[in-house]
Amino acid sequence: MNLSPIYKYGKEQTAYCQKIKDYYKNTLKIENPKAFVKTYGCQQNVSDSEKYKGMLVNMGFSLIQNQENADIILFNTCAIRENAENKAFGNIGWIKNFKKMNKDLFIILCGCMTEQNTVIEKIKSKYSFIDLVFGTHSIHKFPKYFYKTILNKKANKIKSGKNYIKETEDIITEDFPAVRNNNLKAFLPIMYGCNNFCSYCIVPYVRGRERSRNSDEIISEFKQLLENGYKDITLLGQNVNSYGKGLEENINFPKLLKKLDDFEGEYTIRFMTSHPKDATNELFDIISESKHISHHIHLPVQCGSNKILKEMNRKYTKDSYLKIIDYAKSKIPDMVFTSDIIVGFPGETYEDFLETIDLLKKVKFASLFTFIYSPREGTPAAKLPDPVTKHEKTSWLIELLKIQEKISENLHKKMIGKTLRVLTESFLSETGELLCRTNSNIIVEVKGEKENIGKFLNVLITNSKKESLKGKII
Ligand code: SAH
Ligand code: SF4
Ligand code: F3S
Repeated sequence: MNLSPIYKYGKEQTAYCQKIKDYYKNTLKIENPKAFVKTYGCQQNVSDSEKYKGMLVNMGFSLIQNQENADIILFNTCAIRENAENKAFGNIGWIKNFKKMNKDLFIILCGCMTEQNTVIEKIKSKYSFIDLVFGTHSIHKFPKYFYKTILNKKANKIKSGKNYIKETEDIITEDFPAVRNNNLKAFLPIMYGCNNFCSYCIVPYVRGRERSRNSDEIISEFKQLLENGYKDITLLGQNVNSYGKGLEENINFPKLLKKLDDFEGEYTIRFMTSHPKDATNELFDIISESKHISHHIHLPVQCGSNKILKEMNRKYTKDSYLKIIDYAKSKIPDMVFTSDIIVGFPGETYEDFLETIDLLKKVKFASLFTFIYSPREGTPAAKLPDPVTKHEKTSWLIELLKIQEKISENLHKKMIGKTLRVLTESFLSETGELLCRTNSNIIVEVKGEKENIGKFLNVLITNSKKESLKGKII
């Protein structure tokens, strides 16, 4: 039993796909319509775009890599920071002209940005040439809404379909077709939404409440991916450590990992993102006993100051975070840690910032995603006084990056002389090098033949760079 409604891709949406296919063929007389999908934001959005692509293929579209020749342009947007929204609006403004050249072009906007009323208002007033706008809550009805948009545009002989959808039900999607960009690495969502309401973050407002997929659905999709030759599978959720809440079955994230680790063959299981407040010893015990789970954890800490962590509503302290790291290191000595840092949260002082620097030196992350705080309308932090200037915040960030660069460099240097098992992901013809990835998510460049792509190899690490390693196949 799952307390959240499950929506299966079934007859209703496939029937709409067929109607769209017929419309392009019979009414528009386009034999091979083309779709361009642009994705902004995190892995969750990449995963959603794989579903949009799957549905577009069902509608008879070929997927193309440039927007100039497309019959549909779909933007799957992100709202996490102001610059993510600006990027999307910039791009949309530019493609307005495309409609002059192709009157049948459909421009579709979906994803996290469009879950915000302020964005919808802005679109209505300034970007009314967009045909269909819908949010993350409507992904499962994309064919239906697109078909209605087509009919509206046609019946009213208007330049834009002007269809603005607002839905709020937090559903789980199953059995959706997906077109993946890669045939070795796959994303597998295990849950949707977020309940944590970190005070700076827009995600809970645009993705709805946290809900977990039934484990049998996840396990069968995982098995299918392995059977199809995928070797590196990343389990996705905004907080994978709280997987299982709201399900009647007796399961949590470590137990799910254990089940996925039990398949035969050589493959790697990764997961992201882990919230520190739910990272338990059980998680690291399972990883240490496993055959396939990556020895890497992305554990966003955001900040090292207890005062700011409290204001952020993160529900852990610097000390409790360091305890998690210590336990993980004691169980898994080669564990690699990465993190997210926000610099310049409202009210953060230089002393608070130095606590973050101290934490970085203690943990020794392999790499970081760093962000300057960006106020998001509707979140509690956006109402807080924020006296530090952008200029000052930027200088803190530069200071942090310099320190982190040294930490990463030293960490990578320590790997020289070790033999590591890597998966070969791609070949760079210019240098004749293979790009490989360690189980702990570090890139290794080695000389080798293209035929090695998709194979696991043992490599001796011979040199290190700031962000990657060099090695040779042994
Ligand atoms: N669910 C994940 C994070 C998703 S968002 C987690 O909790 O770890 C990815 C990262 O964006 C966050 O970890 C945070 O560092 C950053 N972020 C979120 N909101 C932000 C904001 N308003 N300004 C700047 N960075 C932000
Ligand atoms: Fe945002 Fe916090 Fe949820 Fe992560 S856990 S998505 S930072 S609210
Ligand atoms: Fe952006 Fe939405 Fe992901 S806001 S970071 S695409 S969940």
